[in-house]
Amino acid sequence: MVIAGPRWPSADLGRHPSDRPPIALASSLPAGTVGAMVDRTAIAVAPRSAPYLDEAVARGGGRVVPVEEASALVWTHQRKPEGLGVLLREHPHLGWVQLPWAGVEPYRDMLDHERTWTNAKGIYAPPVAEMALALLLAAFRGLGGYARATTWTREGGRRLAGARLVLLGGGGITRELLRLLAPFDCDVTVVRRRDRPLPGAARVVTTDRLHEALAGADAVVLALPLLEDTRHVLGAAELALLAPGAVVVNVARGANVDTDALVAALRSGQVGGAGLDVTDPEPLPDGHPLWTLPEVVVTPHTANTQAMAVPLLGALIAENVRRWIAGEELRAVVDPDLGY
Ligand SMILES: NC(=O)c1ccc[n+]([C@@H]2O[C@H](COP(=O)([O-])OP(=O)(O)OC[C@H]3O[C@@H](n4cnc5c(N)ncnc54)[C@H](OP(=O)(O)O)[C@@H]3O)[C@@H](O)[C@H]2O)c1
Repeated sequence: MVIAGPRWPSADLGRHPSDRPPIALASSLPAGTVGAMVDRTAIAVAPRSAPYLDEAVARGGGRVVPVEEASALVWTHQRKPEGLGVLLREHPHLGWVQLPWAGVEPYRDMLDHERTWTNAKGIYAPPVAEMALALLLAAFRGLGGYARATTWTREGGRRLAGARLVLLGGGGITRELLRLLAPFDCDVTVVRRRDRPLPGAARVVTTDRLHEALAGADAVVLALPLLEDTRHVLGAAELALLAPGAVVVNVARGANVDTDALVAALRSGQVGGAGLDVTDPEPLPDGHPLWTLPEVVVTPHTANTQAMAVPLLGALIAENVRRWIAGEELRAVVDPDLGY
């Protein structure tokens, strides 16, 4: 069975001698009375740590302690937000919570202004942007079909160079992808929430101009968070606006795209190729049409593998621990109101 990512770092954390489940960590000390005793070098890693996380905390000048003694928390569990909710209710003194993923949708409901929340936005941009470029090239050059072929086939494919691209999202992944795309002389429009320019983009427009941006585009790349208003941001209406035979690349979250609409557009030829690192549902079930459409390349949420991510996450944690102790602004701060 294929287990789709992002399955680390929880899978990578392994058992650590100081492991304790979060509920057990919630100590008998009354909530709120602990804050006065903690110092900012005291960092908890829960529900469980790993050598590389302990090392990152130490590199930042901190020390890993039980949560009741900690000033801040590195949370490591991917899919159990309720565990973090319990822990924070029982230890409301924690002033900073580090989440290890760029997409934090399971944790969005508990984001608050009581403490600083950081995630890993932008941190994984280099490997993810590299995969986006690979999927773009694969779709433009028809590599999905050639990879499946068992005989010498006809020529096909198009140049990425000079293509009209639309990138949805203007964060870390997009910044890095713009850098990688520079030699291809593409005409790139970035659609983002806030009206801020980006180096390498011919134009940046805000989300209210999404349809205008998509009209006639040769390819669209999704690199934005999964939010209420970005679920199915690429649906039938949006796919119909693209140039016939356009390419869709998704390295964000599967549900950013209406899968049924994408399959229909691939079958009709309105979409000529797709490169999907993320799918909805995920894992993509065996027998799903996306597995068999020749113009589709599916990678099982591996744009940012565990091996690629661990050093990047370790570096972020070390830097944020250093900043936390020094009282400086943290990296990758999540806006609780925006949810990313
Ligand atoms: N495939 C993978 O393995 C993988 C790995 C890492 C991340 N991801 C996914 O990729 C997403 C982006 O990652 P990142 O590191 O680039 O995040 P990021 O730095 O937080 O950037 C998110 C960007 O999305 C923009 N945005 C928010 N709402 C939007 C909307 N309605 N329409 C268009 N743009 C919108 C934001 O715009 P403003 O800046 O203007 O506010 C921001 O530029 C993550 O949320 C995660 O879901 C996937």
